[in-house]
This record gives sequence, structure tokens and C-alpha cells, in this order.
Amino acid sequence: MHVYTNRPEISAAVAKHKKNGSKIGFVPTMGALHRGHASLFNFASKNCDIVVVSVFVNPTQFNNPKDLETYPRDLQGDLEFLESTNPELLVFAPSTTTIYGSKVESINYSFDGLNQVMEGAFRPGHFEGVATVLKHLFEIVNPDFAFFGEKDYQQLQIINKLVAIEALSVKIIGCPISRHKDGLAESSRNKRLTKDQRDASPFIYKTLMQAKELFNDQTVDEVQKFVVHQFKDNMHLELEYFEIANASTLTHASTKKESEKYRAFIAVFAGEVRLIDNIALN
Ligand code: PAF
Repeated sequence: MHVYTNRPEISAAVAKHKKNGSKIGFVPTMGALHRGHASLFNFASKNCDIVVVSVFVNPTQFNNPKDLETYPRDLQGDLEFLESTNPELLVFAPSTTTIYGSKVESINYSFDGLNQVMEGAFRPGHFEGVATVLKHLFEIVNPDFAFFGEKDYQQLQIINKLVAIEALSVKIIGCPISRHKDGLAESSRNKRLTKDQRDASPFIYKTLMQAKELFNDQTVDEVQKFVVHQFKDNMHLELEYFEIANASTLTHASTKKESEKYRAFIAVFAGEVRLIDNIALN
């Protein structure tokens, strides 16, 4: 497995493979790798000749400095995980200066309101940071395809918008949410849960599935009230938001239309650990 840390080397390695006709897949990550990431690497490997994985904890996407400080970092562990998953991967593990130079700043994007709701409303500046680092990474790696999990469904919609705004040639592929057996969505943050919080957290997906069931014959408002009530007396989980939104515009769904696709989105605090999840409703 090759590990690159500077721009010219990874760019040259990819360019060489492209020249030989290889299709390049890219999976950007912030490390703390888990089975959910492995499913993205495997999916990318099945569909591309060469797969590049980046490991970079992007400072500009953290609106909360404490969250950035406590974000799990273990490059050595990540490299071992990558090697055991697929020794053919090309790994890009840059420093902050390699990506940003001396200006660690986000570009001021507007995504037609996609970045103003849910995660964007509760984490101001988050998506501008995500879009900025991806613009840099896409320019450096120059992949044909890039793979992202649907757990960050809002992020996925915004990345599609970024690609359109910047007229990038990469094709974005959304991959299904990878879950533990008990339903909890795989996330790097799960490592920070205490045993009690971990035991309590499958309740999030269980509630999303109940919401999906109720969505068949109840109004958006009724489903919303049901979910808020479910979390009311939970000792370990505090609901930050539950939202039913149009699956492509991400605008709040006040009424249901047969022709539209809807999705439910949730953010929950287990102590200081923030967990998100979502589900297609129809
Ligand atoms: O989803 C993530 O892990 C990050 O937001 C990403 C896409 C790697 C950008 O830093």
C-alpha cells in the first residue's frame, strides 16, 4: 500500500494510472476508520481500477472547537486498517498546510439553501468547510468517481451541488448506510460512546423505522410529535432535531404529495457525542 503525504506525488501517481486507462475512484475520509468506510472502499474497488483514500481531519468543517479537539485521530491504526482491508489502495494523508497553505479558511459557498437547514442550521459553516476541503482534494486527486455514505445525506446533496458549481468532472456516488447489527449507523463518533450510551443508541434507528411506518397514514406533524415524544424521557439520548424533508431540495415537508420523495433526518446527543441518521420514507 502506498501512502502519500504531498500534493505533487499523489497527483503524479494518479495521472500515471489515468494515462494507462485506469478508472480512479476516491473515498475521502477523516480517519477513525470503521466497517462503514470499508464498505465504501469495497464498493469503490468493485467499480474502479484504482482507489485512493484520503485521511484528513478537516479543521474548517468543525464549528465547535471542542469537537475538533476530541475528534478521534489514529493515523497508524487507520493505515493498518486500510492495509488489512485492501493493500492495493493508494492513501493520501496530507497535513493541514499541504491542503490549505497558510490560510485555513472556507470558501464562501451558497448552495441554494441546502446548507441552511438541519446540519447547516445547527452547525454553521460546516458545509462550507466540507465543500472547501473537497474542492481542494478533488483538484489534487482528480478522480473519475468519488464515493460517500448516505448517512451524511445532506452532505451528499451539497457535494453534488459543489460539483455542478465548480464544473468538476468527478461523478459522485452515494452508498447505502452501513449499520451495526442492532441498527446503529456506523460512525467514527460511536467510539466515544460509553457502554450505557452505546446500549441506548439503537433506539435512534428504531424510532426512524417507526416514523417511516407512521408516515404511511399520518401527517408530517403527527409523525414529528410522535418522535419528539419518544425521546422525551430518554435518560441517555437527547433529541436535537427530527425533520421530514423533501429528499432532493431538503426543504421541510409540511404536506405530503404523492409525486414527491421524502426523507426523515435526525440528530441526537448521547452525552457530548452527536449522532445523526436518516431514512427514506417513501
Ligand atoms: O464525511 C466525512 O468524513 C467528511 O465530511 C469528508 C467528506 C471526508 C470531508 O472532510
